[in-house]
Amino acid sequence: MSALSVRNLSVEFATARGTARAVQNVSFDLAPGERLGLVGESGSGKTTTALSLLRLIRPPGRIAAGEILLDGADMARATAAELRRMRGARIALVPQGAMNALNPVLTCGAQFDDLFAAHGAAGGAPRVGELLASVGLGAEVAELYPHQLSGGMKQRVCIALAIALRPAVIVADEPTSALDVIVQKQILKTLIAVQREIGAAVVLVGHDMGLMAQFAHRIGVMYAGRLVELAPVRDIFARPRHPYTRMLIDSLPGFGERGVFKGIQGQPPSLLTPLPGCPFAPRCAIAMARCGVEVPETRILEGGGEVRCHAA
Ligand SMILES: Nc1ncnc2c1ncn2[C@@H]1O[C@H](COP(=O)(O)OP(=O)(O)O)[C@@H](O)[C@H]1O
Ligand SMILES: [Mg+2]
Repeated sequence: MSALSVRNLSVEFATARGTARAVQNVSFDLAPGERLGLVGESGSGKTTTALSLLRLIRPPGRIAAGEILLDGADMARATAAELRRMRGARIALVPQGAMNALNPVLTCGAQFDDLFAAHGAAGGAPRVGELLASVGLGAEVAELYPHQLSGGMKQRVCIALAIALRPAVIVADEPTSALDVIVQKQILKTLIAVQREIGAAVVLVGHDMGLMAQFAHRIGVMYAGRLVELAPVRDIFARPRHPYTRMLIDSLPGFGERGVFKGIQGQPPSLLTPLPGCPFAPRCAIAMARCGVEVPETRILEGGGEVRCHAA
């Protein structure tokens, strides 16, 4: 059984200039304990997808279609009371910019107490100390306010809060992007350690495919709101099938050119007036006539991957 099953998810934002189709027809399954990395350029719909999983999309955004199946319930259709029960306990978020996600006027310990109280769960100082220890922090951190902690420490507190109720799914939206490279790796290692301990599945959003490769079992590549490729890490690096995935991998700094991000050519399309055909076609070196008129369907590949490309 899947820990999470996303079926044909579409999310739209009503804007003054029209409807932005931020996520279109995204489907994926997550096995218990599995780590899925979602990558793609800025604006490709990663955060929108991640927040949708917890039904945290706020107006002018809305889930236009699809199912988000978790624990026998559909998050896309859950009532407000069901959502309150599920969030934190079944599916938890480590938000983008988690550095500012903590309540500045409460000690860290009080934020755990609030979480336990909201879910009628057993808490107390020993449990908080245990959670802090699991992310490499001392029990004294419970007495401190967020502003007394470094960025990396705040991030660790956010992770400890996310696992406090032992959710089946953890969604982490670029949890380390504001931190330096060494701290990033330490935090991701911590996230893996605690995720394994509680057996949670993880959706990790990031734009760094290199970092993602060290963390994820499978990688999903998003482009213009669509999941254009989804495959095990080994396969996606050994044989990227979508030309956009290939571009992302080629843009990674090679050995000996540490930290040189080459960037990629061209601009993603407008989400307001979607072109007919494949959204990547205008940037694609191997586009055929068909690509300009027909949206590629998802094709299942040998080895379990899938790709949305006429040419792959
Ligand atoms: N609050 C919003 N209002 C209007 N449009 C939005 C809003 N949030 C996101 N979008 C639209 O959704 C697209 C995807 O955004 P997002 O999911 O944040 O991308 P990513 O996380 O990959 O950078 C944006 O390019 C924009 O068109
Ligand atoms: Mg984002």
